[in-house]
Amino acid sequence: VSDKSDSTSRWADFEEALRKSQSQAAASQFAAAVMHDINNPLEAATNLAYLLRAEANDPAKVSEYASLLEEQLAHVSQIARQTLDFCKAPAAMKAVDLVEIANAALRVHEHKISTKGLRLQEQLPTPAIVLAHGGELLQVLTNLIANAVDAVPENGVISIRIRKCESRVHVTVADNGHGIPETHVAHIFEPFFTTKQDRGTGLGLAISKSIVERHKGRIRARSCVRHGRSGTAFRITLPLHGHEARGQTAA
Ligand SMILES: Nc1ncnc2c1ncn2[C@@H]1O[C@H](COP(=O)(O)OP(=O)(O)OP(=O)(O)O)[C@@H](O)[C@H]1O
Ligand SMILES: [Mg+2]
Repeated sequence: VSDKSDSTSRWADFEEALRKSQSQAAASQFAAAVMHDINNPLEAATNLAYLLRAEANDPAKVSEYASLLEEQLAHVSQIARQTLDFCKAPAAMKAVDLVEIANAALRVHEHKISTKGLRLQEQLPTPAIVLAHGGELLQVLTNLIANAVDAVPENGVISIRIRKCESRVHVTVADNGHGIPETHVAHIFEPFFTTKQDRGTGLGLAISKSIVERHKGRIRARSCVRHGRSGTAFRITLPLHGHEARGQTAA
């Protein structure tokens, strides 16, 4: 008996060591990716600081370089903020209504939605209670709506739908935007994958996925790029409050 428990505990130690080394490898990969991403704007900022000094006597140039410098620094802070969000330790989960969270996320983008003349289709019928960090789920829905707003043309359509199905709830954010090419679909949830050049960090979906999975849920994307029928739908599935234990196997 003692032999067996010895080998069981050795195996557990080995597994623990493996898990640690994998998470260390993931952490250092993540750190390298962050450093790589902030290196470009930092280099640009260094060059701009040099130009500022060189052109100190030309007020027009000083003002132009100063605003370019501000843009680069804002990019660095955005990366820092998103990275901190990625790493922060969560507080206790509470019962929250996804419908309220969806409405709050829509309010965040209200201004952009109306200035771009977008049509909003909402199906948020019943309260849908989940055990969650409300702020984190708000961040997920805000990210998905932000991506939809970016993808649609003027007068495009964004729809947000919540549907309960037995022990689970599905939240779908869909748009009739340009869609995601098939070669990109496999990469959209990777940190720093972006097609938005300087406007995106590529962390939105990576963070959203990690948040959803921490809530025992899953997130899936479906997209079409065919002209006239293009669009994208992200569907999040979460266990309803009281059904969390079965959440992991949710389809
Ligand atoms: N609704 C959508 N329609 C079309 N493409 C999308 C959509 N959502 C995501 N994508 C693609 O996935 C990429 C990654 O999205 P993600 O939200 O992670 O980063 P991002 O929007 O580029 O930057 P940010 O960190 O500011 O969110 C986007 O750059 C875009 O190419
Ligand atoms: Mg985004």
